[in-house]
Amino acid sequence: MSNDLVYSKNSNYYIENVNIKEISDKFGTPCYIYSKSNIIKQLTELQSALKDINHLICFAVKSNSNLSILKIFNDLGCGFDIVSAGELKRVQQINNNTEKVVFSGVGKSFEEIQLALSSNILAFNVESEDELVRINKIAKEMGVIAKISIRVNPNVDAKTHPYISTGLKDNKFGINEENALALYQHANKLNNIKITGIDCHIGSQITDLSPFEDAFKKISSLVDALEKDNIKIDHIDIGGGIGIDYNNEVISPLKYYADMITKHLKKHNKKIILEPGRLLVGKSGLLLTKVEYIKKSNHKNFIIVDAAMNDLMRPALYNAHHDVINLTNQNEPNNKFDIVGPICETGDFLAEDRLLTADENDLIAILDAGAYGFSMSSNYNSRPRISEVMVNNDQFTLIRDRESFEDLIKHEIKHLNT
Ligand SMILES: Cc1ncc(COP(=O)(O)O)c(C=O)c1O
Repeated sequence: MSNDLVYSKNSNYYIENVNIKEISDKFGTPCYIYSKSNIIKQLTELQSALKDINHLICFAVKSNSNLSILKIFNDLGCGFDIVSAGELKRVQQINNNTEKVVFSGVGKSFEEIQLALSSNILAFNVESEDELVRINKIAKEMGVIAKISIRVNPNVDAKTHPYISTGLKDNKFGINEENALALYQHANKLNNIKITGIDCHIGSQITDLSPFEDAFKKISSLVDALEKDNIKIDHIDIGGGIGIDYNNEVISPLKYYADMITKHLKKHNKKIILEPGRLLVGKSGLLLTKVEYIKKSNHKNFIIVDAAMNDLMRPALYNAHHDVINLTNQNEPNNKFDIVGPICETGDFLAEDRLLTADENDLIAILDAGAYGFSMSSNYNSRPRISEVMVNNDQFTLIRDRESFEDLIKHEIKHLNT
């Protein structure tokens, strides 16, 4: 188990200089807890690997969209990769200047395009010909010029879970590499479009770096083809996707990734934009939950906790693995357990077949839950979404309130009896 977030001292577990038990005493469970210094450390590591490359890191808001987390990245000079008007408005809460925002996604609506144009974002990552035409039309109506990149689908296998693989020709994302040049030529003729870049994102949780190299090579030849056609760009957006170690995956040093960028893309002399999400926040957060019941039978044992699949969807959705620690009881494991929530679905599990010792009221940490944890959570089973807490040195503060029952019904209650 490799985790830099929590450590044990005198039978207590800490994040930075805060005893995790104090957090549960004050704010209750379940809750997400993040470490500010771990997030900054991870960003600094990436920045130092990229130090010889002209680059801009655009944090992928979808991975963790809490305003206090966005503020950390904004304060450290990052831009943002967004996929909806909601995400753009979140960024605007932190910084009204959205010149470092790139807008990805296959289904940008009229309203979303209007909002992004009026916000003067850095670039739309265009994912289809229809979208290009729509952006041009709206920009014309608004009397502005839209800056765009075309998201190229390089048809490479990211060797990750099929649901988070996005760079294969059968995926809905991007423009097939064979059609990309023709779309650039089309874009070049549109009066309200200014081509500023090229974009590619091949998937998420990529641990073998070779698919990135395949994609970079293809992007590099496309950049050459654009130059030949006298189509000028000033940035190459290589997306996000770098994986983290959830379950002893071997992760290549970031330097190798940076070396690949240098080898294949630096010669073009363009700004390199990156859209990392998971890498920057994944290992800096955990889901804290409390044991409600222990349920044993002849062939299966369950630890039933107060968190569930609506709080952390990754295990149910991707069969994803999260390491688990019992923070209260560090005795030798005595049994194998599935850790499950109270939701009425067999898919409601957070971890399976784990060797643990546990009792009612023990605190359990579900590790590496900083990315795609809270941001994917829902109100399923009428469960209010849980609170989020930020640790900073020896302090901890709430960065999102636990939802109340009133929050759950506020959009319905006024319609009752109408
Ligand atoms: C377009 C785009 N950019 C960036 C990301 C962030 O990916 P990751 O969190 O794996 O770095 C995603 C996530 O899938 C994405 O779809």
